Amino acid sequence: MSIHSGNDKESKAPDTKDEKKEHVTILAIESSCDETAAAVVRDGREVLSNIISSQIALHTVFGGVVPEIASRKHVEKINYCVREALKEAGLGLSDIDAIGVTYGPGLVGALLVGVSEAKSLSFAADIPLVGVHHIEGHISANYIENKELEPPFACLVVSGGHSHLVIVRDYGEYEIIGQTRDDAAGEAFDKVARAIGLGYPGGPKIDKAAKEGNPDAISFPKANIEGAEYDFSFSGLKSAVLNYINIAQMQGEDYSKADLAASFQKAVVEVLTEHAVRAAREYGMKQLAIAGGVASNSSLRKSLEDACAREGIAFYSPSPVLCTDNAAMIGAAAYYEYQKGVRSGMDLNAVPNLPLGSRERKFHGRASMTGQTKD
Ligand code: KG4
Ligand code: ZN
Repeated sequence: MSIHSGNDKESKAPDTKDEKKEHVTILAIESSCDETAAAVVRDGREVLSNIISSQIALHTVFGGVVPEIASRKHVEKINYCVREALKEAGLGLSDIDAIGVTYGPGLVGALLVGVSEAKSLSFAADIPLVGVHHIEGHISANYIENKELEPPFACLVVSGGHSHLVIVRDYGEYEIIGQTRDDAAGEAFDKVARAIGLGYPGGPKIDKAAKEGNPDAISFPKANIEGAEYDFSFSGLKSAVLNYINIAQMQGEDYSKADLAASFQKAVVEVLTEHAVRAAREYGMKQLAIAGGVASNSSLRKSLEDACAREGIAFYSPSPVLCTDNAAMIGAAAYYEYQKGVRSGMDLNAVPNLPLGSRERKFHGRASMTGQTKD
């Protein structure tokens, strides 16, 4: 299986910007959810600028992301972000070798803003376009600060919409060995935070509250799925937390939000750690990385770091700002796609449910010339 990057049907003819150069500088754009972001990344690993305009404050009043509002805010902010990213990098469009953009998965209206911006810039300035899978971006965030990290490695991807265990065989080559059966890890954090009145976004709030609580105060269930040892399920845990709150309320008893947050977090972190480390061990991986918004969770980072140290596995994690949505990670992923000859056409569209392992991408450039397609 592989994560594919572009639903394009036709490639652009190689132009002067497609010539092999000593350095490849990519302008990257991300707008799949509630962050409008643009970045300039050189050679996949050097971030020259990373501009993020967060909409969190705007959506907090509604207790979650309102897609219509997100799209409108992206429209307002996208040009500003691109301009700032170029300015901070000290570059102009003429210095850019390719434009990388998230085209899925995500909110369709939100994705369309970034995709339209990227296509307009690509068309107007004649710069090659590379569509990027959002999760491929999250995984590639690990390359930015860990210059020595190269595939193969195991990667635990935990975001607001995804929980996957992936073996990264090579750049852009992914084998999905486990995934959630129901809620994503971030979704569970968000729902539990809402239930105990911590508000949106739940992950960072639970992380903070848990620091004051006792993780052993309440024993919550950890789901292990028979016959699918790398899969996750968080809905049972979420229901157990909601039941606990309901029972306490019906009995007129007070409960400690900090203890509940710490106990819930412990249950999630233990399952994620056990699955990820077992996957690395059983697949013979000497390196384990984490990716996605939940990867910024302090308890999860510590737990994986300790477990990897015990197992003799090298552990990698992006800085928290590169775990949550950003465009630098899209620039890193776009670089490796670009180097393989992947180019998106002017028909690149937003694909809200773009699956990991989608076959939508067609290989262009060298690969298509030899009639190869990618599995
Ligand atoms: O990757 P991301 O920014 O957006 C998606 O692609 O979904 O992930 C957002 C998710 C949210 O569910 C948020 O609550 C969670 O990541 N998150 C955290 C933390 N920071 C963000 N979850 C747990 N602990 C955190 N510190
Ligand atoms: Zn994300």
